[in-house]
Amino acid sequence: MPATLIVGTQWGDEGKAKVIDYLAKETEIVVRYQGGANAGHTVKVGDDKYIFRLIPSGILYPKTICVLAGGMVIDPDAMFQEIGELEAKGVNPMGRLRIADNAHLLMPYHKEIDVRSEEASGVHKIGTTKRGIGACYSDKVNRQGIRIGMLYSDDFFANTLPRLVEQKNKLLTRMYDAPPVNLAELKDKLMVLREKIRDMIVNCPYYLNMELASGKRVLLEGAQGTMLDLDFGTYPYVTSSNPTTGGALTGSGVSFRYLKSVIGIAKAYSTRVGEGPYPTEVFDEEAETLRTAGNEFGSVTGRPRRCGWFDVEVVRHAARINGLSAIALTKIDVLDKFKTIKVATGYELNGKRIDYFPSCSVGDIKVIYEEFPGWNEPTSHITKLKNLPKNTRKYIDALAKYCGVPIAWVSVGPGRENTIAIK
Ligand code: GDP
Ligand code: IMO
Ligand code: MG
Repeated sequence: MPATLIVGTQWGDEGKAKVIDYLAKETEIVVRYQGGANAGHTVKVGDDKYIFRLIPSGILYPKTICVLAGGMVIDPDAMFQEIGELEAKGVNPMGRLRIADNAHLLMPYHKEIDVRSEEASGVHKIGTTKRGIGACYSDKVNRQGIRIGMLYSDDFFANTLPRLVEQKNKLLTRMYDAPPVNLAELKDKLMVLREKIRDMIVNCPYYLNMELASGKRVLLEGAQGTMLDLDFGTYPYVTSSNPTTGGALTGSGVSFRYLKSVIGIAKAYSTRVGEGPYPTEVFDEEAETLRTAGNEFGSVTGRPRRCGWFDVEVVRHAARINGLSAIALTKIDVLDKFKTIKVATGYELNGKRIDYFPSCSVGDIKVIYEEFPGWNEPTSHITKLKNLPKNTRKYIDALAKYCGVPIAWVSVGPGRENTIAIK
């Protein structure tokens, strides 16, 4: 059975979790392969709303196995808080969670460093989620990180941890004027943690490829989006991991041979949280109208999201990098009341037309827009493509044509039932 990958095509919050929840019905295993508690993945089932940060969005199906794979940075406090919140709502994730032995542990000092580094950057800050993501991935790349599997080695507690804490304490006290980490307390905490998660630990390349070989269906769940990718996004205003297809493979250990379908999630307009260039951003009243209609406030931080129009060049960039097989177009209903809808269909840079998303100088892009007539009718109740207003269908067809990727699902509301599958 092949694996299916779900990846964000814009700046995150495209509605990935809603689509994952919709598709997970047919899936035995859902895998988060990168990022950490910076993600906020919302699933609405009836009147209940769930916001997942670390736990894969398939957890609401009682038999689905959910894997936190090796590309992730896992804050154990955030994970157990999330487990507790789910249990309080009658969902039991224990017994169905697996954690990769090569995933990295996100420590309290990573959060401290993230917050202090942002403060120290002043106007040059990234606008991070303050969840310690960049600090933890920096340690991983710098070979000073803590893999979950290291918790089961005595040498780690005797030698590695004291050395890492000593280094961190120099950084915290000398550079950031922050209190040092208490080694004894951290040791005790990690000793408790290792027993709590002992039965969940798996070797992901072994486990996932074996399950795929035996016919299990696997859904790979991306966090963030292509434009926040460390290598292909609007660097340095990006996250510190690779949400794109390459990151899904290195982050999960699933062989590329199993990957048969890559579904890109695209909002019918666009949003961005945090700092950084955003060619189709709108301001003032126009932004307020989109933000209110789309309820565009961060699900983790509550920050108002920046809003703008659909950008064809962005989604084509995502289509190229990820090898998209299809697009799920979300939040089309948010545009129900707009008289006209703008779409960015081209870029100019330094007076010349370009037909790619540049790696640098994004702030200098001049955007060329095309206007589409609105439909001024509600769409959330519609379940078949042919029943959508004519102008909605024209809009969907135009986006598919411009992006060069078929649109296979249209989402017209946050619920599972508000999804139109296009045959
Ligand atoms: P993710 O991070 O990509 O999973 O997206 P978020 O959960 O952060 O943000 C998407 C928001 O839009 C959530 O509040 C969803 O419940 C909501 N949503 C998803 N699809 C639709 C849709 O088609 N229409 C509307 N109105 N809301 C949607
Ligand atoms: P989901 O999975 C939207 C943004 C932050 C900031 C930048 C770096 O819900 O789509 P970080 O904390 O990762 O170091 O912040 O990335 N960001 C997101 N924006 N959705 C997300 O996740 C995001 N995760 C990080 O706002 O600009
Ligand atoms: Mg989100």
